[in-house]
Amino acid sequence: MQDNYYVHGYSPRESERLTDQAETLTSLLHHDTRYPAGSRVLEAGCGIGAQTVILAKNSPGALITSVDISDDSLQRAEEKVRHEGITNVAFRQGDIFRLPFAPGSFDHIFLCFVLEHLAGPGRALEQLRPLLKEGGSITVIEGDHGSAFFHPEDEDARQAVQCLIRLQRQMGGNALIGRELFPLLRGAGYHEVHVSPRMVYVDDSHPVFVEGFTKLTFTAMVEGVGPEVVQQGLMSSDAWDRGIAALYRTAEPDGVFCYTFFKAAARK
Ligand SMILES: C[S@@+](CC[C@H](N)C(=O)[O-])C[C@H]1O[C@@H](n2cnc3c(N)ncnc32)[C@H](O)[C@@H]1O
Repeated sequence: MQDNYYVHGYSPRESERLTDQAETLTSLLHHDTRYPAGSRVLEAGCGIGAQTVILAKNSPGALITSVDISDDSLQRAEEKVRHEGITNVAFRQGDIFRLPFAPGSFDHIFLCFVLEHLAGPGRALEQLRPLLKEGGSITVIEGDHGSAFFHPEDEDARQAVQCLIRLQRQMGGNALIGRELFPLLRGAGYHEVHVSPRMVYVDDSHPVFVEGFTKLTFTAMVEGVGPEVVQQGLMSSDAWDRGIAALYRTAEPDGVFCYTFFKAAARK
């Protein structure tokens, strides 16, 4: 069983998408995460550092250790952090399922858009738990593609989203994981689990979200799996193109897009 398959891949376009996603959603997802000066924070699955930069700026006195399984992504993350003049982050290559840290090494753990790609998300949470000191916190942010709805409604667009969900499942992941954060954290032995749904509502009166979320985050993400969907015969090339066009259509002045992220916090 592969634990680290990543359906969106590591292409330059996907890197840009992760950055657009993080920047557009900064306030919605990060406004209530601040770590005290001197606290030790583990960011698991930091990717190219899109969230790392936000975490580090919001908690400049915290000592952040960011890990990822991909050396290439870590290198990109290091460059990004250096470019921003951030000095409170150390990077380390590692697998969430077997991280080389002593028990109780961290006061806080943060994960964003990682569990959805793992074959064993509950096991990952269990493996992380000993790394927290007693009473330490874990924060987990995930999306849930089943929460996407839009206007104009379109059958091909809906099917395109379903194809992404299906491909991610084939690879061992779960694009509907947001709704499962509560049972996953409880099941992994955490206490005081609190889940807060964060809806992104986009219409023409929020042009930053139209561009940054509807187009560059959500639709770009679905679009990225097109070749695989067509190759597997899940949709015809024409139907796929119509579906993607219909998703972009929701970004026009009379279009509307809605999506819900789930942010969970819990304690050891
Ligand atoms: C969607 S990216 C999210 C990156 C970042 N957290 C963000 O929000 O931009 C998922 C990341 O998880 C990493 N990953 C997947 N499996 C992993 C594992 N077993 N251990 C560590 N990192 C893993 C991937 O390499 C990828 O960088």
